[in-house]
Amino acid sequence: MRILVVYCHPSRTSFTYEVLRSFTRGLSDAGHEIEISDLYGMDFRTDLTEEEYLRETHYRSDLPVPADVKAEQDKIERADSIAFVYPVFWTEAPAKLVGWFDRVWTAGYAYADCTMKPLDKALFIACTGKTLQSLEETGNKLAMETVMLGDRINQRAKSKQMVFLDGISHYDEALLQRMKPQHLEAAYRLGLEF
Ligand SMILES: Cc1cc2nc3c(=O)[nH]c(=O)nc-3n(C[C@H](O)[C@H](O)[C@H](O)COP(=O)(O)O)c2cc1C
Repeated sequence: MRILVVYCHPSRTSFTYEVLRSFTRGLSDAGHEIEISDLYGMDFRTDLTEEEYLRETHYRSDLPVPADVKAEQDKIERADSIAFVYPVFWTEAPAKLVGWFDRVWTAGYAYADCTMKPLDKALFIACTGKTLQSLEETGNKLAMETVMLGDRINQRAKSKQMVFLDGISHYDEALLQRMKPQHLEAAYRLGLEF
């Protein structure tokens, strides 16, 4: 299969970058073809222009989309499945990934006469500082699943999954060191079994 990986983290010294590497190693070992959109690396623009905003709010799917948005849509069309790898910032994806959805999910493509190719699978790998137990107790896990799987993917993929790699915070260095190897192994397996 051909997999589009949308990666969003500002630093290559991060745990999230190590997760990307483990995950893509698993995908390669399984024989998948990979294309990566590194949103910070590409300096992907995430603010809507007024023109883009008006196009969306008036459902003007007859109007063209910007070239950088079209390039992302073309990557989706070339892919069978999509995966997102990112850290959780304030119970959301980083603003750069949220902005990717704002701009790439356009009218006439992802909604309002949707022409987007139906994807086989959508996978979200979200790295979190908090523990899974804490994210469950506060309802934050459900909130993130509702937004990503329920709203942003919805019917756009035949199967969808969100995985949280938790407890990765320098606030608790001992926990981080304990969790890291098992999370990197899990990321590799997610790639291998994609
Ligand atoms: C601006 C900012 C906001 C964050 N907000 C959250 C949060 O709401 N919940 C959480 O579990 N972790 C939060 N974190 C921790 C990140 O998720 C953490 O960076 C992540 O586990 C991955 O580590 P990495 O940055 O080394 O890749 C936040 C980090 C930053 C920089």
